[in-house]
Amino acid sequence: MFFTLKHPVTEDTSKFGKSIHQKDIDEALQYKAGPTDVFICSYAKTGTTWLQNIAWLILHHGRDMQGCLRDNIPMLEFDGSNFTNQIDNTEYPRLIKTHFKQSWVPFHLKAKYLYITRNPKDAMVSMYFHYKGFPQYLDAIDFDKLFDMFAQGETNINGYFDHVTEWYEKRNESNVLFLLYENLKQDAEGQILGIARFLGEEYYEALLKEDRKLLKVIVEKSSFKHMKNNSNVKWTSAERPADLPFIRQGQVGDWRNHLSSEQSKIMEEMIKEKGATSGWSSLWDNHGDVWDEKIPN
Ligand code: A3P
Repeated sequence: MFFTLKHPVTEDTSKFGKSIHQKDIDEALQYKAGPTDVFICSYAKTGTTWLQNIAWLILHHGRDMQGCLRDNIPMLEFDGSNFTNQIDNTEYPRLIKTHFKQSWVPFHLKAKYLYITRNPKDAMVSMYFHYKGFPQYLDAIDFDKLFDMFAQGETNINGYFDHVTEWYEKRNESNVLFLLYENLKQDAEGQILGIARFLGEEYYEALLKEDRKLLKVIVEKSSFKHMKNNSNVKWTSAERPADLPFIRQGQVGDWRNHLSSEQSKIMEEMIKEKGATSGWSSLWDNHGDVWDEKIPN
C-alpha cells in the first residue's frame, strides 16, 4: 500500500501512500523556502494537526482558522509548490505542513521548523484508526499487518523510526524546535509559550499580556474538546465515517487498549535499537505512558 518515489535531485527514495505520485513530489520539491516560513514537520499521527492549530493561533493572535485546514496550511507533498506559493505571507508567516523526511524539507536558514513526535505505540494505534476511516486504504486495516509494517519501518516515509532519528539529530539547530505530544498533553501552557517564543519574542510577549489572556484563549482553542467540536474548521479534506473521526481520542497510552504484550515488547525493542545512537530512546523515560514496565531510575 506504500510506493517508493524519488527525490528529483538527490534520487534518494521514500515511501508514500497511493494518492501521491512522482509528479506530485517533483512539483512539491520545487518549493523554495522563504525566511518567514514556518514548517510544521512530523511523522504521521503524532500530533501534527494539533501543532498546526497551535501555531496558527499564535501567529493569528488567537483567531480561529476557518474552512478546510489545508486551504490555510497546505501540506507540501499533497498540495504542491504552486498552491503553497499562493498562500499570502505578507501579513502573517506562511505555515506549511509536511511529513517529508528531514533531508527532503525545503531549507532556508531563517525559516523555522517545528517538529512533533509521539511515542510509536500510540502513533501506530492512531495510524490504524486513521486508515480504517479512509476507504482507499481498506487493504491496510488489518491491525496486526499494519503493526508489523510499522514496527519494520515499512509504512510511509520509510517508517517512523528513521524519521524521528533524522529530526532528533537536528534538534539543537537554532531554527528547529523538537516537541513531544506527551509534553503538550502534560503542560499545554508551558509548551505553547515555548512554541511562541521560538516563533518570535513578540508572540511570546503577546501571550503574557493582561494576565495571560491570549495564552488562555489559545490553550482553550487548541484543546482536544474544542478542536473536536469546532465545526468551523474541517481538519481533514476527506470524508470519514462518523464513528472514525479524524480528531479521535487524544490520549497518551491508548496503546494499552490495542497492543498485545508481545507487540508492546517488539515496539520497545525498536525504540531501544533505533533510538540508541542518537539518544531519542530515552525521550519518554520520565513521563508519558510508554514503557510496559517502569524504567528504573
Ligand atoms: P489519536 O488517534 O490517538 O486520538 P496527526 O494530526 O499527526 O494526524 O495526529 C493525530 C492524533 O492527534 C490523533 O490521535 C488525534 O486525535 C490527536 N489530536 C488531534 N488534536 C488533538 C488535541 N487538541 N489534543 C490532543 N490530541 C489531539
